[in-house]
Amino acid sequence: MKDLQQYTGVIDSELTKIGLPNSPVRLYDPLRYFLQIGGKRIRPILTLLSAELFGASSEKALPQALCIEVFHNFTLIHDDIMDQSPLRRNQQTVHEKWNRDVAILSGDVLMIKAYQLLGDIEAKLLPPVFDLFNNTAIEVCEGQQMDMDFEERSDVSIDEYIEMIRLKTSVLLGCALEIGAIVAEASDKNRKEIYTFGQHIGIAFQIQDDILDLYADPDQFGKQVGGDVIANKKTILHLTAIKHATKEQLEVMKQLQNAQDLVFKVDRTRRLFNQLEVRSICEARMQEHYGIAMASLAKINIDESKKEALIGLAAFLMNREV
Ligand code: IPE
Ligand code: IPE
Ligand code: MG
Ligand code: MG
Ligand code: MG
Repeated sequence: MKDLQQYTGVIDSELTKIGLPNSPVRLYDPLRYFLQIGGKRIRPILTLLSAELFGASSEKALPQALCIEVFHNFTLIHDDIMDQSPLRRNQQTVHEKWNRDVAILSGDVLMIKAYQLLGDIEAKLLPPVFDLFNNTAIEVCEGQQMDMDFEERSDVSIDEYIEMIRLKTSVLLGCALEIGAIVAEASDKNRKEIYTFGQHIGIAFQIQDDILDLYADPDQFGKQVGGDVIANKKTILHLTAIKHATKEQLEVMKQLQNAQDLVFKVDRTRRLFNQLEVRSICEARMQEHYGIAMASLAKINIDESKKEALIGLAAFLMNREV
């Protein structure tokens, strides 16, 4: 078994070879830039590990793994426009470094690139892979729209939030894993089980993303700390705070939604969340989904030693700082 860094290295290096022409410069330079500034590459690694788990070589699933990472990067370029985020992977976002129109169009090309990579597969495997990927891509858009709709609502429930993050984030992790299973011609039951594993790892992953958004070390995080608070995102931190707040605290939260001084807004919100011990409540929720994910993985009838790489990746995700 290779270690995770070796897989990351393979993905990084293969991404430089996906064939981006030089011109028009303002279409392709942003993509070269974005694909080379790093990223954890967890989704393509999930595809490779899943293919290996079910007995295929990781090489066989490589184009589809790259497809998933390229698609993910497309969603990030557009997400950063929607969230007005200045920083990503410790560098300027595409719309900041170039402009919004450049970010829209280069993002579009990247999505089409994802489809080109997806299609590099044995003919008989294309229909199920195509079907799964299409459904997933639509779901991601649905989740992203819900995320934006929630910014303007004050009555979002935790169940609605979980559904929103399932769509915007988890389905892509599930899809990444299931595509690996399809390439390896795993049974329908195993395909389902690995998808469920991905869904719950994905939910835990997005809860962690929400926590880090407010609590990460700004020198390490690579994104703007407090961005979700600034944008009035209905994160699990926010919804948990609402649930436990006193009337007075609720009033403070309401006032903070419109605060103009953004440093004050973020610091005051963090102080309030700390008083309510919001972080540890959310971490417990994250652990719950991690537990469900592990239970799904346990149901897959394959030698336990073959699951170690996936278990290692899942553990890494739960303990990450970025
Ligand atoms: C960020 O994903 C978007 C979310 C779904 C939370 P990652 O945290 O995987 O971002 P990179 O690819 O490592 O930068
Ligand atoms: C992004 O969620 C999910 C997708 C890109 C589909 P976030 O908006 O929380 O991701 P970050 O925090 O910007 O990476
Ligand atoms: Mg977003
Ligand atoms: Mg964002
Ligand atoms: Mg986030």
